Amino acid sequence: MRPLWGPPKKKKSKSPMNLLAIAVGIKQKKNVNEIVNKFQLADFAIMLFHYDGNVDGWRDLEWSNSAVHVSAVNQTKWWFAKRFLHPDIVAAYDYIFLWDEDLGVEHFHVGRYLSIIKKEGLQISQPAIDAGISEVHYTLTAREINSTVHRKAVNLRGPGHRCFENSMEPPCTGFVEMMAPAFSRESWRCAWHMIQNDLVHGWGLDFMLGYCAQGNRSENIGVVDSEYLIHLGIPSLGGSAGGKTNAEIDRLAAMRGTVDESDGRTAVRRASFMELNKFKNRWGKAVGEDECWVDPFHQPLHPTQTYHH
Ligand SMILES: *[C@@H]1O[C@H](CO)[C@@H](O)[C@H](O)[C@H]1NC(C)=O
Ligand SMILES: *[C@@H]1O[C@H](CO)[C@@H](O)[C@H](O)[C@H]1NC(C)=O
Ligand SMILES: *[C@@H]1O[C@H](CO)[C@@H](O)[C@H](O)[C@H]1NC(C)=O
Repeated sequence: MRPLWGPPKKKKSKSPMNLLAIAVGIKQKKNVNEIVNKFQLADFAIMLFHYDGNVDGWRDLEWSNSAVHVSAVNQTKWWFAKRFLHPDIVAAYDYIFLWDEDLGVEHFHVGRYLSIIKKEGLQISQPAIDAGISEVHYTLTAREINSTVHRKAVNLRGPGHRCFENSMEPPCTGFVEMMAPAFSRESWRCAWHMIQNDLVHGWGLDFMLGYCAQGNRSENIGVVDSEYLIHLGIPSLGGSAGGKTNAEIDRLAAMRGTVDESDGRTAVRRASFMELNKFKNRWGKAVGEDECWVDPFHQPLHPTQTYHH
């Protein structure tokens, strides 16, 4: 933010700025406050996307006036990100953290996290998810004990998918989940273009983020084990895919082409699946139309993908 007149306030720190953006509802105020407090460094700008329209309820928090608040009722994190995080606007930031509101941060230190991803050259990263307590969707993003960073799933058999020793495709490498990604400036420019205006649940993006890795996705995308998160898994619009989903159920449902009707979040899930198919179809169409496109990874469509052309 800038003053109405005069030069901008001198920053205390010389380090480059970064951005934390979270889609929030007032019900998660306490947890969001804990997350933001972890980012209380001189070099972080905070942006809240209010999907429940409640902005006033946040005013009492000490950092509220120095955060940017954007409010639009019932919109998802990806809808907000597409409209308010245009890469030219956020080019001032070195790293963009686009997080869910239901993450437990007691084992996360952002200063250490930043120095690790810089040192390791990670263009796209996420903190590992503690497998002990949280719902873990993918083997790759589960925390490894006694490790700083990993880039490959080492378990040969994970929940819902198998990662063999030589698996070189997402979700076994070159992959992060959508709940807590951190993007470098350049990878965000690419990822932002991949987000579709009208596909608000963001499904399908995770498997394609490798194309934004600015090189070898198996090297430039990684999971930080030493700074990790607890995934609380609260269904809300601040969560990935507009409602917390169990990726394993979804994957099986996708393979069967059915959706579990007994689940209360069926409507959101069904919409997400429809969007996933649209996303894949658009990808396939774009690949077909672009004569110059050479797939650097020779990636077949994700095995659960049903593809209509
Ligand atoms: C937002 O979604 C909730 C829950 O589905 C619904 O009750 C409410 O009417 C919606 N609000 C608007 C403004 O669409
Ligand atoms: C982690 O490292 C500690 C200390 O070196 C060791 O005692 C422990 O067995 C290791 N745990 C695993 C799971 O490797
Ligand atoms: C990408 O990096 C991985 C891991 O270092 C390596 O095994 C692979 O050969 C690299 N791929 C290319 C195309 O360089």
